[in-house]
Amino acid sequence: MNTDEVSRRPLVAILSGAGISTDSGIPDYRGPNGLWRRDPEAEKLVTYDYYMNDPDIRRRSWLMRGENPVFRARPNAAHEAVVRLARSGVPVRVLTQNVDGLHQAAGLADRKVLELHGSARSVVCTGCAATSTTEAALRRVAAGEQDPACLECGGILKTATVMFGQPLDPAVLAAATAVAQACDVFIAVGTSLQVHPAAGLAGLAADHGARLIIVNAEPTPYDGQAAEVVREPIGRALPALLDR
Ligand code: NAD
Ligand code: APR
Repeated sequence: MNTDEVSRRPLVAILSGAGISTDSGIPDYRGPNGLWRRDPEAEKLVTYDYYMNDPDIRRRSWLMRGENPVFRARPNAAHEAVVRLARSGVPVRVLTQNVDGLHQAAGLADRKVLELHGSARSVVCTGCAATSTTEAALRRVAAGEQDPACLECGGILKTATVMFGQPLDPAVLAAATAVAQACDVFIAVGTSLQVHPAAGLAGLAADHGARLIIVNAEPTPYDGQAAEVVREPIGRALPALLDR
């Protein structure tokens, strides 16, 4: 995203979290059926130090990725409503914590999406930074490799996501911060707003005068700052809100 776009004051910023993708069959993290609630050990699989230092964690991660719904999922009514809003001419910027690529799969232009936690659709070498597709790495896993190494340098491969213990990409965070400060309406959807710095963007937007709207089944720490809290299923509530 270039700064020209930000200076034209994006009207609507949408901070999305795992809850926008549960209707696509991808479980969230902290909701009633969230991944962390089912298996507290699952958090280790997405913690950088464990991943880098424990080959067994990597083997389990690759096995899980083979079954990961992220790679089969299709966008749902909520992702489609965001695209409709953008196509209606309203300037929209999506700041997403999701790594599933479903906003873009629904038809939202890449330049309108900032992936705060990276993407699970590509892999990066932790040694030489070479990138390739997750699909190609998963083909190697299906063929029997338990912990596929970088084909360029033999280094450890991981998905291009931000794991616990890794910083967010500073350029992406700076662009998201500029959007939060400049927008008129900030909608947080499907996020428990518990993970920083992403969650803090909601407070930042409200502090800069944006109308903060929260669409989420469960309470969040930012509900008190919101002009409107919609505690309903996103698949129905978000299209209704955006079409309005
Ligand atoms: P991975 O492909 O192994 O995915 C991790 C798990 O997240 C999968 O089981 C997947 O099904 C699940 N998931 C649930 N809801 C999801 C959604 N809406 N979008 C995408 N995935 C979803 O990838 P990985 O590299 O081992 O794990 C990285 C994960 O860690 C990412 O999901 C990322 O968002 C997350 N993460 C981010 C931070 C952060 O806040 N900085 C910290 C820790 C973890
Ligand atoms: N309708 C309404 N709300 C829903 C729906 C739905 N269909 N599905 C889930 N939710 C709500 C849940 O109640 C929960 O409060 O969405 C919220 C999702 O919150 P989290 O699971 O905490 O997901 P998120 O906020 O995206 O997590 C932030 O944490 O581990 C990291 O990196 C990971 O990006 C992720 C970050």
